[in-house]
Parts: sequence; C-alpha cells; structure tokens
Amino acid sequence: MRIRVNGTDHEVDFEEDMPLLWLLRDELGIHGPKYGCGIGQCGACTVHLDGVAVRACQVWAADVGAAEVTTIEGLGTEDAPHPVQQAWIDLQVAQCGYCQPGQVMQAASLLNETPNPTDAEIDDAMSGNLCRCASYPRIRAAVRRAAG
Ligand code: FES
Repeated sequence: MRIRVNGTDHEVDFEEDMPLLWLLRDELGIHGPKYGCGIGQCGACTVHLDGVAVRACQVWAADVGAAEVTTIEGLGTEDAPHPVQQAWIDLQVAQCGYCQPGQVMQAASLLNETPNPTDAEIDDAMSGNLCRCASYPRIRAAVRRAAG
C-alpha cells in the first residue's frame, strides 16, 4: 500500500488493523510521533492528515488513503523551522520533551484553522495534549508567539 509521509511516497505492506503510529515508528522509522497511552488520551502521537491534527494511535494506517501525513520531522527544517517550532525554541518550552512533538503538531494545526486564537481557544485546542512536566504556561505563550 502507498502512503505519503512528509512529502515522500512509501510503498509498504502492513496489516489492515495497524494503527498509523505503528506504521510510522516501526515500519518507516519516523520516531517523532511518540507512544504515550495508545488510547487517544494523551496526544503524544499527534500528526497531521492534510494539515489537521489527529491521534496516530487512533487512525488505521489503511484508512489514510491519499491524505498527506505530516509528522514533526516534516513540519519545518533545521534551517527554516515552522513558526511554531521557532516559538518553541525561542521560549525553551520543552522540559523532558517527550510530549512536545505532539504539542507542536497540535499547535500548528490550531494555527492552520485559527491564525489568531484567543487564550480560551488555545487552552481548548491544547487541552488533549498532556505534559507531565506541566509546561502548559510556556506552551500557551509559544502558541501566542507563533500566532504573532
Ligand atoms: Fe496516541 Fe496517547 S499515544 S493519544
């Protein structure tokens, strides 16, 4: 089956009931999306399907079809980070860092849909992405900064 990830087409064989997260990590070696809970509750596995945040542990790889999958690796580049990535760097948001790829992808999806979100909209959009280090105030500040 063909799947497009970060601008590259991959031809891969996988079981019909394989979640996208496993395909990305185990079959394609793309490790930005993280396994946290496996039941759609933590947001560590967040990636984009056509620019919209989804939980990769809750999407069957077989259902992705022609949609473009984007992971943190494909959001920006080292030389030209995405504005959300740049804001995360500027404000040193990450502490342990485990949840941060998912946080960044969720924030980028929010700004795709709502370029200038209110604090309430930020909190609402980010509420499903958990952080054990409680970096929430820096996350909110970074989303505001990225919104410019
Ligand atoms: Fe997918 Fe937690 S690992 S939401």
